Amino acid sequence: MNIIDTGAAAWLTYLPMEIPQGETTQDIARSELRAGLSSLGFAAKVDVIEDDKGEGFEITQSQDGYVIKGGKTGVLYGVYHFLSAIAREESPLTPFTAPHYPLRMINHWDNMDGSVERGYAGRSLFFKNHQLDYDEQRIHRYARMLASVSINAICPNNVNVHPPMDLLITKTYLPQLKKLADILRLYGIRLLLTIEYSMPSYHGAGTADPHEKTVHTWWEERAAEVYRYIPDLVGFLVKADSEYRPGPFTYGRSHTQGANMLARALAPYGGKLFWRCFVYNCKQDWRDTETDRPKAAFATYAPLDGEFDDNVVLQIKNGPLDFQVREPASPLLYAMPNTNKALELQIAQEYTGHQIDLFYLAQLWRDVLTQLPKGAAQYIAAVGNLGDDDNWCGHDLAQANLYAYGRIAWLGESHPEQFAAEWARLTYPQAAEEVADILLASPAAYEKYAAPLGLGFMVNPHIHYGPSPEGYEFSLWGTYHRADQTAIGVDRSSRGTGFTGQYPDQFGALFDDPATCPEKLLLFFHRLRYDHVMADGRTLLQRIYDDHFNGAQEAEALKAAWEQLKDKMPERTFERVLARFERQVKNAREWRDVINTYFYRKSGISDARGRMIYS
Ligand code: GCU
Repeated sequence: MNIIDTGAAAWLTYLPMEIPQGETTQDIARSELRAGLSSLGFAAKVDVIEDDKGEGFEITQSQDGYVIKGGKTGVLYGVYHFLSAIAREESPLTPFTAPHYPLRMINHWDNMDGSVERGYAGRSLFFKNHQLDYDEQRIHRYARMLASVSINAICPNNVNVHPPMDLLITKTYLPQLKKLADILRLYGIRLLLTIEYSMPSYHGAGTADPHEKTVHTWWEERAAEVYRYIPDLVGFLVKADSEYRPGPFTYGRSHTQGANMLARALAPYGGKLFWRCFVYNCKQDWRDTETDRPKAAFATYAPLDGEFDDNVVLQIKNGPLDFQVREPASPLLYAMPNTNKALELQIAQEYTGHQIDLFYLAQLWRDVLTQLPKGAAQYIAAVGNLGDDDNWCGHDLAQANLYAYGRIAWLGESHPEQFAAEWARLTYPQAAEEVADILLASPAAYEKYAAPLGLGFMVNPHIHYGPSPEGYEFSLWGTYHRADQTAIGVDRSSRGTGFTGQYPDQFGALFDDPATCPEKLLLFFHRLRYDHVMADGRTLLQRIYDDHFNGAQEAEALKAAWEQLKDKMPERTFERVLARFERQVKNAREWRDVINTYFYRKSGISDARGRMIYS
């Protein structure tokens, strides 16, 4: 089987599998250029010139060819850009370009036993049997793939730190981590590490109370040691007081106190502290209708604006709930003008089909980015969708999500059609248009069969794949839809929980009124009767029925479109992806029938078009 058949080359089909050689990023850039030009059969002369423009680069014409000019990492990005353009048969000429976000991060949720939380592509690329244990060649190819779309920082370990992962910041593991950092550095990629907030309490200091001087000293010593091994570490990423993880609240202290303490330990080395804002009551009583989970992050952090140190960055999920198929942008991303923020996306398809069902995420991300003001976040991070599967992402087409994320992180904007076309042209030049069309049609299909009008969380508890309309309805997680025989949804307007009041006025007013609320978010913000009349004259319930019938049909159409490509695809790629589409079609039917039956049984109202609903 050649490499194209395995999916291992990803979109870098123009590069040989041999890893580049060199001791510096510039060596790597030159090595990649040579290898790429020769495999593309490109004869013109291409010079690489280094300047002091950091990650930026430009590509101009010279008398007898081209000049790629850029800073230390810029030349590498310039080389990948050049090769990508040639492979796509486009002009490589590029006026000076520099990244929108200075840190463009992947957060892996890998555990040291080799499992990956919310991982759908095999085991961890980094860990095995509680050791850093990886295939070095593979890490080179991973780093090359990330660098080709400008990702410049990765966090290899899970935000939920399970022992012995806490020891990564000690001598037990630092020598191994240093080796990983040394490889990644060649590709302009820096490490970031998650830490266990309570670690000083059981590892020498007796407490992790941020008020105690001993705890400050403990973290200062840790930071000093970590930076001795990895001088360019980005910093720490922390999940504190979130989903049973300890944090400052455990000690009766504030998040400013906790975050600033850690940030001060990192400051002497130029390190940053990424502090996740996924903080809410995960022990809610479903009978409690006052508490409204989407309000939690804003309520916790907005009053603290201006109180965090300069090297603290609040890392905020794109939506206020949790990576659902359809959510408004988090109100916290509009707030806190005097605080550094990172936007957190999820490439891993936790709620969007587990990389079994196809869901091209660039449209969802475009919807997030176009809602927000340009400077809403200074940094960007995303939960990775990679594992040790040969094709990296489980589903070959899910590689497009990784590609699109990198492009967004560079541009600060999402252009789904453009990224799909680029990716498909590079990966499957023989069927680029058809594959791009399949990608672009995929999210609407999934949204229709899985998530009516912004409702969310009708998934199987814990695994988050497949339908379970009341799977979370009587749980502790605060994710209720409260369907009864006449209505569904939580009233989050000014007449209800008041969540809409967390938005700037113009958005708050828009969301507050069902008549002006974007239809796709209607049930995120409102509780409505099944006979509520929608803009096009259909009732809410009929719209839900129609979407589910249509979505399942669209899933079948995706599979049929793929089947058309049988003669254009390498055989194994074709079969692998077809097997995923077969599972998707089955899943879509299950969603359609379970959700429609559920609403029919609740409401007693039949489908106006008389289609089959199970009673
Ligand atoms: C979700 C996800 C968890 C994850 C958490 C987080 O709840 O299901 O697996 O740990 O988000 O972002 O911290």
